[in-house]
Amino acid sequence: MTPELERLFEHLRFPSISTDSTHAGDVRANAEWLVEQFESMGLKTELHETPKHPVVIARNERVEGRKTVLIYGHYDVQPVDPVELWDSPPFEPEIRDGKIWGRGGADNKGQHFVHILGAEKTLKEKGELPLNVIFLIEGEEEIGSPNLVPFLEKHKEELACDIIAVSDTGMVAPGVPTLGYGLRGITCVEVTVKGPSGDLHSGVYGGAVANPASAAARMVASLHQDDGMIAVEGFYDDVIPLEDWEREMWAQVPGASDADFLKTTGSPESFGEPGYSMAERLWARPTIEVNGIGSGYQGEGSKTVLPAEAMFKLSCRLVPGQDPEKIQAQVIAHLKSHTPKGVTASFYEGHSGKAYHNDPHSEYGKAGQTALEKSFGCAPVLIREGGSIPIIQDMKEILGADSLMLGLALPDCQIHAPNENFSVENFEGGIEMSRVLLEELAAL
Ligand code: BES
Ligand code: MN
Repeated sequence: MTPELERLFEHLRFPSISTDSTHAGDVRANAEWLVEQFESMGLKTELHETPKHPVVIARNERVEGRKTVLIYGHYDVQPVDPVELWDSPPFEPEIRDGKIWGRGGADNKGQHFVHILGAEKTLKEKGELPLNVIFLIEGEEEIGSPNLVPFLEKHKEELACDIIAVSDTGMVAPGVPTLGYGLRGITCVEVTVKGPSGDLHSGVYGGAVANPASAAARMVASLHQDDGMIAVEGFYDDVIPLEDWEREMWAQVPGASDADFLKTTGSPESFGEPGYSMAERLWARPTIEVNGIGSGYQGEGSKTVLPAEAMFKLSCRLVPGQDPEKIQAQVIAHLKSHTPKGVTASFYEGHSGKAYHNDPHSEYGKAGQTALEKSFGCAPVLIREGGSIPIIQDMKEILGADSLMLGLALPDCQIHAPNENFSVENFEGGIEMSRVLLEELAAL
């Protein structure tokens, strides 16, 4: 194993699960480990406290007249459950079949560590970096970055930059370098449906008392039309339509045909708005997804109960033009007006984040494309992403800089799921990509 991989393994061994307060000490220890890494490279490094998990900032000397790149990443990870489905323990990384297996391998430790190693390589070879570099590695991305916006506002001057580089997205297929120029936004809603004051015998009372599980199912079902379109009034009003050049370009992207997506997901058939390919639906159209739903008896055998309560959790993925708070209000209004008689529903407004998109043909976009081409050996494809990194649009609004999304996670990387993995080839290629990127950006 290379010394670079050994160091990534150290990073991956911290169980830095940001949502789980019992891991707060591990999250902090991971941040302190990052500080050591940056300090050993001779960068000026600071660990900033926030109300929750620390932000790590590291930079070289700011020289006037040079470009400044901010490299963003997150060292927190998602929970690991169901842990019994992992083939090897999530925080004991190992290499099998050319892949690094472990939580955080792709999302996001492996992907931001390539940038740290790329800069380190240049520093070792040349003694300095060709432009001003600021690393910002946060510990709250997986919980919606609640403390990063105030942090950015407070440190706006020190964080001023021309462009942001982020590897926290996907590569469409092995050997197909990918530049992302868009992300979907998000807004979440949690719903509780209540009926009788306690569980009832479904024979003694069923048929005369509304069943909260049925009511919740009807509410969920009301969100979509039979053809897959969303039935919430006004939902599509502000959507900026995708452009013809994007549709033509995406139709040529290897690994992004309907057949490819069906293979990766194991789904028997595609679903969604008529008139769009799966790639178009994923990358440029909004959705409402049920993330969780529950009520009543779920154990072995049958239990004749009329449950007192039901719940479901929704997240909407949004596209440029849509305002997350407005959509959240529209969805809640829709659910209120579709709450069946005989139950009451209460709504919890979850977190929200805006969609993002930029021009992949700008001078920065071209520098990103060149870095991918030089390091991976062929011209990159240009895509938008279905996932969300809300802080990217916040950084655009606060720092005024666009983000180059240099995705290195493959479609089968299983982020947020058991057996997360990161390809060794993309780890090595990513280090080179980051090194070249600094040169390309410095030359602008
Ligand atoms: N790295 C992902 C987002 C991502 C993955 C974008 C793949 C594009 C392709 C990020 O860590 C993530 O999971 N984001 C959350 C955001 C939420 C918690 C606010 C998401 O998309 O669910
Ligand atoms: Mn994630």
